[in-house]
Amino acid sequence: MSNGTSPQPTPFHTLGIVGTGAMGRGIAQIAAQAGLTVYLHDLREGAVAEAQDFIGGMWSRGVQKQRLSETEAERFRASLKEAATLEDLAGCDIVIEAIVEKLDAKQALFEQLEGILDEGAVLATNTSSLSVTAIASTCRLPQRVIGFHFFNPVPLMKIVEVIPGLRTAPEVTERVAALGQAMGHFTARATDTPGFLVNHAGRAFGTEALRLLGESVTDHATIDRILVDQGGFRMGPFSLLDLTGLDVSHAVMESIYHQYYEEPRFRPSPLTRQRLTAGLLGRKSDEGFYRYLDGKPQVPEEAPLPEAQPHPVWIGAEDDASRRLLTDLVSAAGWPLDSGEVPATDALCLIAPLGEDATSCALRLNLPAERCVAVDMLAGLERRRSLMTTPATQMQYRDIARALLGYDGTPVSVMNDSNGFVLQRVVACIVNVGCDIAQQGVAEPATIDRAVELGLGYPRGPLAMGDHYGNRRILTILDNMLAATGDPRYRASPWLRRRAILDLPLTSA
Ligand SMILES: NC(=O)c1ccc[n+]([C@@H]2O[C@H](COP(=O)([O-])OP(=O)(O)OC[C@H]3O[C@@H](n4cnc5c(N)ncnc54)[C@H](O)[C@@H]3O)[C@@H](O)[C@H]2O)c1
Repeated sequence: MSNGTSPQPTPFHTLGIVGTGAMGRGIAQIAAQAGLTVYLHDLREGAVAEAQDFIGGMWSRGVQKQRLSETEAERFRASLKEAATLEDLAGCDIVIEAIVEKLDAKQALFEQLEGILDEGAVLATNTSSLSVTAIASTCRLPQRVIGFHFFNPVPLMKIVEVIPGLRTAPEVTERVAALGQAMGHFTARATDTPGFLVNHAGRAFGTEALRLLGESVTDHATIDRILVDQGGFRMGPFSLLDLTGLDVSHAVMESIYHQYYEEPRFRPSPLTRQRLTAGLLGRKSDEGFYRYLDGKPQVPEEAPLPEAQPHPVWIGAEDDASRRLLTDLVSAAGWPLDSGEVPATDALCLIAPLGEDATSCALRLNLPAERCVAVDMLAGLERRRSLMTTPATQMQYRDIARALLGYDGTPVSVMNDSNGFVLQRVVACIVNVGCDIAQQGVAEPATIDRAVELGLGYPRGPLAMGDHYGNRRILTILDNMLAATGDPRYRASPWLRRRAILDLPLTSA
């Protein structure tokens, strides 16, 4: 149930839905289940009947699976009615539009509806990328216009964003939020800003992964593996881009970037623009970053780990926890530990940089780059281990490090030198964007985290993620990346910097 409480009785009784495509039908289904009478209208002839059949089919399956009774299904079916014309929506106390994503079409629809509905009726838009304020701007009563943004598929994605425009009446926001709860969804209140909350928070995952690919740090399948295994994400960014389709995701990347006046944190990648041009959309075109055979992605095998005889290992990790974990690993593998002040002449040197490349870290610590291999310690050594070499690292030492880190069967990924490992870079960018959402007051900290868990399926919301990995470490990663690249994309949000310095959780308001 939404917000951890029982659904409230809905403050609305008769709901109109205009546009009965993917979103309109989902909204209609959960509205009927919440006890509302739902009128469906669509421009295309036959669309409403198709939607009624589709939703009816969902309820029939629910009955088969004993999730609802035949009587309930009948009651729900009876509450779905066709509005053949817009005028048939006259008795509705709220109308939600889920038509084509075009500002002029939505404005024209609301202007027409204003001439049909009572003055007290609410006009809600399911837009995902347009400004609610702009949609309301041509209405006679903009105070009754609000964003009510659901996610696809609506019955399964238990979250809805409630977005008042600049002139929306507070009472309308309260009533619509109560409706979202009555429909069984977590209602995330957010300000009318580009991407609202969830699509804004989702900017970092794909764009930073694309930057890693663009810098040839490693291949797309390795980036996906690292983020799934080490980061706990359900799906890697390239699998996700393939699932959504570049026709949708590249357009969203560009739209939010431009709406924020070319904010570098959201900068899209030329890689996706070109792939889009080539028609490599993803699953829907059978080829995206992966090729699909019978709907299954063709994922390249991981290279087998090399064999290596035990070799002396010198540990140059600078923080105690990482040093301890690496020391324990060397001893569990039964390899000799070089505990000298400086490494012996043939020892493998393991370093653990944060947001710094292996080259700079080796030089800063005055270590021989040809024997240095960096280990990502951000997530510890569970599930997968990520290694990074300098351009001078000898292959022999790279393979010794791979054999050592994989001695117990844990998979090991090796990447080229980068200012930050895959996990560090992607996590730091997610946390930073989440912090800036909090800084801008788009939503409350707790709302940001819950909305991202539900809307994006991340293992944690961005603020909790920063606290989980340690917000000081995240700040160090970003500061080092900014210093090395000069790219303002990596400038830390003041929300993050202040809390990290003061040793406060990012979730604190
Ligand atoms: N699909 C998603 O993942 C998703 C998620 C969140 C929000 N949205 C937003 O929801 C809205 C609808 O998206 P969708 O994916 O359901 O689209 P869709 O193409 O599946 O359905 C749109 C429906 O609206 C009808 N329509 C178009 N113009 C109309 C008009 N002027 N009057 C009446 N009916 C009209 C079409 O005939 C069609 O049946 C868009 O604003 C979209 O941005 C979509």
